[in-house]
Amino acid sequence: MPPETKFVLARIPCVFSLQTIQNYGQRKEGNLVLLAGTDNTSSLINSALILIAAYPDWLKALREELDSWDGSDLRALAQMPKLKASVLETQRIRPGIFALGKHAGEDFEFEGYRVPAGTDVLHVNTLGHFLEEVYEEPFRFKPERFLEQDKFAPKTFGLFGGGLHVCLGRNHSLMQTPVAVAQAIRNYNVVFDEPPETRVRVGYAGSRVHQQLWVQLVPRRR
Ligand code: HEM
Repeated sequence: MPPETKFVLARIPCVFSLQTIQNYGQRKEGNLVLLAGTDNTSSLINSALILIAAYPDWLKALREELDSWDGSDLRALAQMPKLKASVLETQRIRPGIFALGKHAGEDFEFEGYRVPAGTDVLHVNTLGHFLEEVYEEPFRFKPERFLEQDKFAPKTFGLFGGGLHVCLGRNHSLMQTPVAVAQAIRNYNVVFDEPPETRVRVGYAGSRVHQQLWVQLVPRRR
């Protein structure tokens, strides 16, 4: 990547991901997989960059952790609790898909409600992410919560759906996201032209970044 470049934010995840894949000598196959399912993952990475940049104390702490990383050993990233917490909290608060449209293939009963075959059902797969009794101040970005507990509370994680149609790209995205976030935060100052929206947008269209955000990646001097 040239030393100082201006991007529309949505393009950043692909650049970092392709760089990493290139390092691992798998670029051609990587291109295909990335293009197939890139929108949700891009949205997650974009949200992480926006939210981390909006919390300077957390950004500083995360950078201190990432400064010990050599920039290429992907396995080492699994040992970085603040990076993990940043990604988990972004998954919780800015899921790409809040609700899934389903169609009952056969009659069933749920919590006393009888649902006949053929009924359209809106499954709010991420409702558990926003339950106050589980996540204190659920609409606030608080990655620290995942330092004490490094996973979602039982039965609250709905990001990738579930059951027979659970997301096929789940593991791909769980690998790609921390790599892209780590590369961006460790090596660059992410400077937005205008302050991006940090509030949670709950809606059927998910929490994608709807603005066309211009951003500059300024190499960090360490
Ligand atoms: C953060 C990133 C992603 C999120 C939030 C996400 C979310 C989801 C959700 C909610 C579903 C529906 C599950 C259900 O109906 O219960 C789904 C299905 C699917 N996803 Fe993803 N996805 C992501 C990344 C990817 C990637 C990177 C790929 C491909 C490389 C991918 C491929 C698929 C496929 C093929 C299905 C359909 C599975 C089926 O119907 O059997 N996804 N995803």
